[in-house]
Amino acid sequence: MPWDKGQERLYPGPRVSVEGSREEKPFGFSYSKGSDVLFIHPVIQFLSILLALYVFYLGLQRFRFLHLHQKVVFPWKRHLVLGEIALVALLTGMLGGMAMVYVYWRGVIMTGIHGKVGLVLVPFILFGLMSGLYMNRKKKQRRVLALIHGLNNLVVLILALTQVVSGSWVYRVFVLGG
Ligand code: HEM
Ligand code: HEM
Repeated sequence: MPWDKGQERLYPGPRVSVEGSREEKPFGFSYSKGSDVLFIHPVIQFLSILLALYVFYLGLQRFRFLHLHQKVVFPWKRHLVLGEIALVALLTGMLGGMAMVYVYWRGVIMTGIHGKVGLVLVPFILFGLMSGLYMNRKKKQRRVLALIHGLNNLVVLILALTQVVSGSWVYRVFVLGG
């Protein structure tokens, strides 16, 4: 198991000192409740996913207008601002999760499918951002790039939703130790 590697006993769940009363942290720090910080990444990611769901709903209005020729209003500016917030938060939240895993368990991508899917998400998130910014800068009636952008971000959304399931497992096993 990855947490058995090396001299140190690295195991899922907070590190507990010999007395079992305090959790020992690397760099000489020790907190009585280490799992408090380990809660930040899951909460940020969950909120970002909720926001991304709403941004997708806004994008669907553009889809209806462009491809289904329905007369609907697309709140362009709101989609842009909230889309940026959602994707940047997903990306930085992910880096935060990786940093936590490194600090607490001294490993990189050691949580199995959760870490791997996180890495797979990076190019999709970046493409979602770049294509959105490009379409905003060079405004014109376009269908193909808008569709690719929408599909790409649908992939982001689906993969991020699977991260909720695998992330709950990571939280239970690594953080709660059960
Ligand atoms: C969670 C993130 C996002 C989702 C789920 C999303 C989804 C969508 C969808 C479904 C469409 C309609 C595509 C179509 O009509 O075929 C769309 C259009 C658009 N999105 Fe996003 N988007 C996201 C983030 C962004 C970001 C970060 C930006 C800009 C920085 C952006 C800018 C745009 C623009 C400008 C359009 C209209 C393109 C056009 O009609 O020319 N989106 N988006
Ligand atoms: C609600 C959803 C999620 C939950 C419950 C969750 C849970 C966790 C937990 C408990 C950790 C261990 C570190 C920590 O607690 O800070 C972690 C690490 C990580 N998470 Fe998440 N996460 C979620 C969503 C996401 C998403 C959407 C991404 C990608 C965009 C992601 C990417 C990662 C990565 C890359 C790591 C480091 C893994 C490693 O180095 O092995 N997580 N996550």
